[in-house]
Amino acid sequence: TKNVGILAMDIYFPPTCVQQEALEVHDGASKGKYTIGLGQDCMAFCSEVEDVISMSLTVVTSLLEKYGIDPKQIGRLEVGSETVIDKSKSIKTFLMQIFEECGNNDIEGVDSSNACYGGTAALFNCVNWVESSSWDGRYGLVVCTDSAVYAEGPARPTGGAAAIAMLVGPDAPIAFESKLRGSHMSHAYDFYKPNLASEYPVVDGKLSQTCYLMALDSCYKLLCSKYEKLEGKQFSIADADYFVFHSPYNKLVQKSFARLVFNDVVRNASSVDEAGKQKLEPFSSLSGDESYQNRDLEKASQQVAKPLYDAKVQPSTLLPKQVGNMYTASLYAAFVSVLHNKHSELSGKRVVMFSYGSGLTATMFSFQLRDGQHPFSLSNIATVMDVAGKLKARHEFPPEKFVEILKLMEHRYGAKDFVTSKDCSLLPPGTHYLTEVDSMYRRFYSKK
Ligand code: ACO
Repeated sequence: TKNVGILAMDIYFPPTCVQQEALEVHDGASKGKYTIGLGQDCMAFCSEVEDVISMSLTVVTSLLEKYGIDPKQIGRLEVGSETVIDKSKSIKTFLMQIFEECGNNDIEGVDSSNACYGGTAALFNCVNWVESSSWDGRYGLVVCTDSAVYAEGPARPTGGAAAIAMLVGPDAPIAFESKLRGSHMSHAYDFYKPNLASEYPVVDGKLSQTCYLMALDSCYKLLCSKYEKLEGKQFSIADADYFVFHSPYNKLVQKSFARLVFNDVVRNASSVDEAGKQKLEPFSSLSGDESYQNRDLEKASQQVAKPLYDAKVQPSTLLPKQVGNMYTASLYAAFVSVLHNKHSELSGKRVVMFSYGSGLTATMFSFQLRDGQHPFSLSNIATVMDVAGKLKARHEFPPEKFVEILKLMEHRYGAKDFVTSKDCSLLPPGTHYLTEVDSMYRRFYSKK
C-alpha cells in the first residue's frame, strides 16, 4: 500500500449564519473588533433542527453518493467530535443507519475526542489501519463534526459549525508523508467542558492562545528535526507550499504563521530575507515565555511574514473566516479552502498541517499532493464540494434571532420529550434534520 491518504472529501455547514459586523454592533463591541481584531467575517450555527448527528448523516450520505461509493466498501468509520450528545453512545453508531440499510454491519471504529483534535486522531486511526496487517482492502471513512457555541461574552463570536467527511485509502491524491510528524501533548486547563449540563466550554482565552503557540513551536521544531534526519538538510518554510492551521479565528492563524517565520530566523534557516532577519534578530535572545508575551515581536514578525502569509496561508482562510471555528472540522475546512482556491495547481505540492486541541494535544504533519485519478482527483474533489455554491446559498440571520436560537438550544441541551418545528425550508435538499427527542431521549431524524 503506497501513498495512503485522503481519496475524497465533502463538507457540510449549516446554511444559517450571522455576519460578524452585525454581531459587533449587537454586542456593543468596538467597530472592527470581530472583523479585524479576530479576523472573522461570518459565523454559521445550527438552528433547532440541526446538530452534530444530522450534519454527519448529511455529509456521509453526500460523499457516498457523489463519489459513487457503495456503503459495503467501507471497512472502518471513525468520528472526531467534541460536541457531547451522549456520554456512552457514539456518533458513529448513529451513522451505522446508512450502512446497515445496505447490509454492512462489519465496520470497525468509534468516536475520538479531545477538543478540536479528535478529527486528527480519527484520521490517523484510519491511515494507520490501511497501512496495517489488519487492513481488509476496504476504505476508511473519517467524519469530523462539531457545533461550536459559547456563552455570552468575548468568546461568542468565535463559534461555528460544520461536518466534514474524508475517504481514506491507498493511491490517494492527498497522501500522508508519514515520517514527517511532530506531536506535543501536555496537561493544561485552557479550554474544557467540565459542566456536563451545559454545551458551553469553560475557557481561558489568553491561556488558550499561548498554549496553542507553544504547542505550535514545539511541533514545528520536531518536524524540522525529523526532516533533517531524513533528508540530511535543514527544513524551512520554503520547503512547503502551504501551511494550514487549526483556525479558532483568523488572527490566531496570522500570529501562528508569524511564529514559524520567527522560528526560522532563530534557527538561521534560509526562508527569511536579510531585511526580515534584521528586524527579528533582536528578539532572538528573548526567553520562550517572554517571546509569547512580547507585542513588538508579534507585530514585527507579522509584518515580516506578510508576503509569505499571502502566498502560503491566505488560500486556506476562506472557510474558517466565513463559517467560524468548526472545532474538529476547522483544520480540514481550512485545507478544503486550499483545494477550492488552488485545485488546478496543486500537483507536486507539499502542505503542512497543524492540528490543535485544547487540554492539550497537537500534531504537525504533512501531505504530498498529486492530481489523482477520477473520481479521486483534486479537481473533482473541488467540484463535488462546491464551496462557492454552498457559501452563496446561505441565509443571514440578524443577531437577535441568533441569540434567541442559542437560548432555545440551552433549554434543549440534555432535554427529552420534545418535537422540533420540523421546519427545513432553509436546508438544501438531501439534508438530514432532527424531528424529535422522545421520552427515552431517543433522537429521530428525517431527510429533506
Ligand atoms: N478594531 C480592530 N482590532 C481590535 C478592535 C477594534 N475595534 N478591538 C480589539 N481589537 C483586537 C485586539 O487588539 C486583539 O488583537 P491582537 O491580539 O492582535 O492585539 C483582538 O482584537 C482580540 O481582542 P481581545 O481584547 O484580545 O479579545 P478578547 O479578550 O475580548 O477575546 C478571545 C478574544 C480570547 C480569542 C476570545 O474570543 C476567546 O476566548 N475565544 C475562545 C478561545 C479560543 O478560540 N482559543 C483559541 C485556541 S483553543 C480553541 O480552538 C477553542
